[in-house]
Amino acid sequence: MLLEVRDLHVEFRTRDGIANAVNGVSYTVDEGETLAVLGESGSGKSVTAQAIMGILDIPPGKITGGEILFQGTDLLKLKEDGRRKIRGAKMAMIFQDALSSLNPVLSVGAQIGELFTVHKGMSRKDAKAKAVELMDRVRIPAAKERVGQYPHQFSGGMRQRIMIAMALALEPDLIIADEPTTALDVTVQAQVMELLAELQRELRMGLILITHDLGVVADVADKIAVMYAGRIVETAPVHEIYKAPAHPYTKGLLESIPRLDQKGQELYAIKGLPPNLMHIPPGCAFNPRCPMAQDVCRADVPPLFEVSPTRRSACYFWKETLDG
Ligand SMILES: Nc1ncnc2c1ncn2[C@@H]1O[C@H](COP(=O)(O)OP(=O)(O)O)[C@@H](O)[C@H]1O
Ligand SMILES: [Mg+2]
Repeated sequence: MLLEVRDLHVEFRTRDGIANAVNGVSYTVDEGETLAVLGESGSGKSVTAQAIMGILDIPPGKITGGEILFQGTDLLKLKEDGRRKIRGAKMAMIFQDALSSLNPVLSVGAQIGELFTVHKGMSRKDAKAKAVELMDRVRIPAAKERVGQYPHQFSGGMRQRIMIAMALALEPDLIIADEPTTALDVTVQAQVMELLAELQRELRMGLILITHDLGVVADVADKIAVMYAGRIVETAPVHEIYKAPAHPYTKGLLESIPRLDQKGQELYAIKGLPPNLMHIPPGCAFNPRCPMAQDVCRADVPPLFEVSPTRRSACYFWKETLDG
């Protein structure tokens, strides 16, 4: 097992109160495997990723429980210098917004090259050659001519490719891509996602792909974890979830995917809003929005029921949901 997150809890202490952002998340990623993490905005996807990367905003954030086993080591027990050695070299992250992640006053070649001078002790000349090689690899046209240019001279899609190049530079074992294509045009989104998936397969890296777009993950992911209010509500191999969701929330997300055959038709969207994380409703957090909710859903937090050996759903009515 490459990565195993066990019962992770993260809260944010703010002036207004305590936001319970992550409330017992467990998931695993194998070598070469892609896990897609889905859920509406505010469900704790990024906070979980930041805890794994060791870049959580502490304070106000605080990890109050759990373990993050990476290649057998609990990252939460490491000191900062131990974490720093892993970050970049063994796990890397790709963010939504390349423009704010890249340094505006440093050429892209210098930024990619820096990874090799700092981590591998390469000369600047060799590092620049490596930068060109990586830019070629992520298919930036005329890499040799553009290596000296600055981030603002590239289009959004090309900048995202540069971030992918930087993430891949040290050949990490795990990549976390947090909404890597959300800021891009639809056609460019598909190209960037294809590139990422291809490189991931080639290099046999584990990939955590965070997105709120179920349409994107069908071709790319091996399995899915659906998050709601800081918990996993369903997890399954990707084809099983698409065939028949076992949680009403997943079902709602699936029905929100725009479909080519229904152009112009209004999209189904899940009614209501995700809960305030300072006041998560008792029982199943989804119950106020759930068409299936009964008394038990308002009383007790549902455990993750075993639907099949590869599948879990945190719904008392998973059978009915599967059949419906
Ligand atoms: N830096 C922060 N300070 C305070 N609260 C935060 C911070 N980052 C995240 N949170 C809280 O955690 C919740 C989950 O955030 P996040 O993991 O970013 O959601 P998403 O699923 O959209 O990635 C937010 O809605 C917010 O309440
Ligand atoms: Mg996020």
